[in-house]
Amino acid sequence: MSTKDLEDIECTADHYSYLKRDEKYNRLTEEHVNYFKSILPKENVICSFDDSEKELLKFNVDWMKKYRGQSQLVLLPTCTEEVSKCLKYCNDNKLAVVPQSGNSGLVGGSVPVFDEIIISTKAMNKIIDFDDMSGVLICNAGCVLADLEAYASERGFMIPLDMGSKKYCCIGGNVSSNAGGLRYLRYGSLHSNVLGLEVVLPNGQIIENLSRLRKDSTGYDIKQLFIGAEGTLGIVTNVAISTPRKPKAINAVLLSTNSWENVQVIYKKAKEELQEIISAFEFFDEHAYSLVKKHMNMTAPLKQANEFYILIETHGSNREHDDAKLNAFLDTIKKLNVVQEGYVSKDDKQTRSFWVMRESVPVACSMNGAVFKYDLSIPMATLYNVAVDMRKRLMEANVYRPGDETSEVFNVAAYGHIGDGNIHLNISCKNYSKKITDLIEPYIYEWTQEHNGVISGEHGLGLMKGAYLGYSKSSVMIDIMQNIKNLLDPNNIMNPYKYLPKKMITKLSDIKN
Ligand code: MLT
Ligand code: ZN
Repeated sequence: MSTKDLEDIECTADHYSYLKRDEKYNRLTEEHVNYFKSILPKENVICSFDDSEKELLKFNVDWMKKYRGQSQLVLLPTCTEEVSKCLKYCNDNKLAVVPQSGNSGLVGGSVPVFDEIIISTKAMNKIIDFDDMSGVLICNAGCVLADLEAYASERGFMIPLDMGSKKYCCIGGNVSSNAGGLRYLRYGSLHSNVLGLEVVLPNGQIIENLSRLRKDSTGYDIKQLFIGAEGTLGIVTNVAISTPRKPKAINAVLLSTNSWENVQVIYKKAKEELQEIISAFEFFDEHAYSLVKKHMNMTAPLKQANEFYILIETHGSNREHDDAKLNAFLDTIKKLNVVQEGYVSKDDKQTRSFWVMRESVPVACSMNGAVFKYDLSIPMATLYNVAVDMRKRLMEANVYRPGDETSEVFNVAAYGHIGDGNIHLNISCKNYSKKITDLIEPYIYEWTQEHNGVISGEHGLGLMKGAYLGYSKSSVMIDIMQNIKNLLDPNNIMNPYKYLPKKMITKLSDIKN
């Protein structure tokens, strides 16, 4: 996208009129900028005072082109000590900060709302150490996920986190947003795979906790606070992550079926029969698939239209063993008569093509306009009803008329990580209008709460969901979070206006008043 297109995006502060700049934060002056220029390489200070508006725009606008901040300054420190000096100065001078790495977030968490200074970890992108006995990899926060994957792969290991955005996202942002990804089902969360972190606190103090140990029972596990803190408590500068062995045998199966009940039967059987080798169980529905076919020019082996498409993958160490298990599983689901069509990948190329199809869904949903994205965690039995009910609601409001080109909502696609009880609902529309927003939110959060879910499974809260935290956490828990925030960031300079905003929305009447 050219900077011209970016210039057309409305500023967040204008779009969301309830947001007000907190005047306790100082405004940027030449003196501040001169200080940063004295401690960072000259080219790592990008400032509007030097006519760098175009360059700044790329940092001010998020990946979805939904949020646009008005920061006048981007700092790109090259080491932990520089991050520490930057943060201490911002804290002493009451300058608000937004940490950023790959800027591939989906909730407006890593771009400013007003004029917060952007501290990017992009210039910190070195791998520090790798131990091929334990598989522990230590690296800078600004390392791109795909680069880490390539590095680990060359050594016979793999990064336990995999995502469609791996060519852009950075490990620091992954940790800060507690990213989940495509193989969470098998390899688990960053809360378990991150063994150590180095973090800089707002006052410049450095928490050096780059542990390489799997086990540690010595007191509170402080690093966990920063996993999913979305840059509200400090800046993650280095990460120690446990990497598993790369699988020797990979299988992938693409299935289609015509009911949510069948999807659940297939899932249960896959868990039962593939047990230790299952590495992913992903789905996308017919609405998602129609967009992939339309926009991505993708040819699937699938011939008939069906309601649900499932991608199952196995990772193992013995091909014969894995093939035997997979065949037994396929026989079982065939006998149960729950599958309409099914294809087992014949080689790595075809496995990749199955994944490309799944990973293309979010891109296809964001073509030709705006997309409202949700990542709800809901118990599996009722998971898909959120898509059914949302479509009904939008149709009743006459903004979604399937087949009608003039309809404001083009598509309501569902896909995601069934194995983790995590559904993505993507509502594609012409633009981010208030009318559509009000039809979707907070209805979708209420729905999720009523069905025992949480409003974010892996994308985080950011600006989009920060105010709705009350739908997923009790007031006691929010109080504890607030106390932690006050302890670590007493001046509230870290990523303000998002997580833990002053006003929590807990029920519909809160915002109607
Ligand atoms: C995915 O599962 O594809 C990711 O969470 C990204 C997205 O939903 O946009
Ligand atoms: Zn996802």
